[in-house]
Amino acid sequence: MTAPVLLCGSTHFPIADRIGRGGEGEIYAAADGTGRAAKVYLTPDAAREAKVRDIIARSLGAACSNVTFPLEIVRTADGRFAGFTMRRVMGHQPIHELIATGSRREHFPKADYRFIVHVALNVARIVANVHAAGVVIGDINSAGFLVAQNGTVTLIDADSFQIGMHRCRVGMPEFTPPEIQGMPFGAIDRTIDHDAFGLAVILFQLLALGRHPYAGVVRGRPVPLEQAIVQGRFAYSLLRTVGATPPPAR
Ligand SMILES: Nc1ncnc2c1ncn2[C@@H]1O[C@H](COP(=O)(O)OP(=O)(O)OP(=O)(O)O)[C@@H](O)[C@H]1O
Ligand SMILES: [Mg+2]
Repeated sequence: MTAPVLLCGSTHFPIADRIGRGGEGEIYAAADGTGRAAKVYLTPDAAREAKVRDIIARSLGAACSNVTFPLEIVRTADGRFAGFTMRRVMGHQPIHELIATGSRREHFPKADYRFIVHVALNVARIVANVHAAGVVIGDINSAGFLVAQNGTVTLIDADSFQIGMHRCRVGMPEFTPPEIQGMPFGAIDRTIDHDAFGLAVILFQLLALGRHPYAGVVRGRPVPLEQAIVQGRFAYSLLRTVGATPPPAR
């Protein structure tokens, strides 16, 4: 696909390379040295535009500097809504590359336990900052937190958060608490407690060598994570017997 021509306000927004792609849009680096990036939606509908405008009006980018909240609207050359600008994150890896021990050795060769704890604290701080701004993340997952070599963390995909009346329409089962497992995300209001479950999963994975807290084995067979979450089978519990044992060491 050729790079789109974009306007930001009344001026041309010059774009360089495409630096990312997700299910909802494509991310382009700005070519003007301002350290920005633009997300261009695959389906730039009215609901997305209303949500992005609301986020910009709330100045959330200024309130949470470690979250890439939308900063300005971008439009196509003929004036239609296309997406938004945000701060570009440089020199980072998604946190799952730090969580998985194999990729940890490759991408974070100097990461010791002190580094892991530092990153874990940064992740928790970001979630607390977002909540303090009156926003629920909703789709907490290990692709959304980007980690730099110095342990700095940035949370991306902020246009999917639950903000005011705009719901978070997405989520991943392994970071979703039991009370909303299997529910249609677009039809329910998420809470900061739901975020706390997703945060706890990421912190556990970070601090426990990549293990998911609900990974477990029953009669020699692994239990699907969604099922273990719904059934409360936390196999690492020191207080309760849950009928499952932690998976064997790798
Ligand atoms: N601000 C940013 N700076 C640098 N890279 C970014 C930034 N935002 C997104 N990316 C890159 O682009 C990818 C896709 O971004 P994002 O997750 O926001 O897209 P999406 O279409 O909403 O995806 P999803 O379907 O997972 O919600 C990210 O995984 C990341 O690699
Ligand atoms: Mg998204």
